[in-house]
Amino acid sequence: MADFVLDLRGLAEHAHTRAYYTLRELRTAQVFEVWLDQEPKLLMDAISQQLRHAIHWQTLAEGPPLWKLSVQRREDVAPVDLVDLLERDHLRIDRLFASALHKVNAGDLEGAAPDFHAYVDGLHRHIQVENEMIVPLLDLPRSPNGQDPTSIMLREHDEILEQTTMLEHEFSEGVDEAWAVAPFFALISGALAKHEGREEQNLFPLWSRALRERPDEAAELLASAQSRLDAQKR
Ligand SMILES: [Fe+2]
Ligand SMILES: [Fe+2]
Repeated sequence: MADFVLDLRGLAEHAHTRAYYTLRELRTAQVFEVWLDQEPKLLMDAISQQLRHAIHWQTLAEGPPLWKLSVQRREDVAPVDLVDLLERDHLRIDRLFASALHKVNAGDLEGAAPDFHAYVDGLHRHIQVENEMIVPLLDLPRSPNGQDPTSIMLREHDEILEQTTMLEHEFSEGVDEAWAVAPFFALISGALAKHEGREEQNLFPLWSRALRERPDEAAELLASAQSRLDAQKR
């Protein structure tokens, strides 16, 4: 039984705005049904992207004339593939970092420390999965000038890890003034957002395509990546 039925039939170009504002309000454990009079994939992919992949949708009834979808928060359904798992992990890492940043900006360094350390742990695991499990397995073509998506990713990982290690060092030295670490936070925050965006745009589609051709290895990789990333959440 759906918590809400969103009927987009007859709305033509207004369907997008209406769907975006409604699905933005979807909460954990809720299920919204969406009814459409057009093929839903384009619309739903665009909205999902705008909501930073926070929603998961599946088709309940195939049109024409009527398509019925069920939409849930992504955390309420198991990851469907490796890219899905990694995109969720981006959000998780971002949230931890944002929470630490927020506390630093409020002058609460002591409160920021646990979130910051959870971010560091999460970041290391995430990069380990990308660098050590996925890159060697998929072995995508690289260009000698280093401008291919894999080389760019590896370089950005080194930069983010380096900046994070510097900040970790500041924390372990026992900073007593928030202004001393705030610039490091700003630097990492920008670098992380850009890096994740680039990965999701340029590299993940290549990974998805490569993994679709090797379903057995893809399933194995998903399971091992998941256990590596999950180990920290307990
Ligand atoms: Fe990455
Ligand atoms: Fe990533």
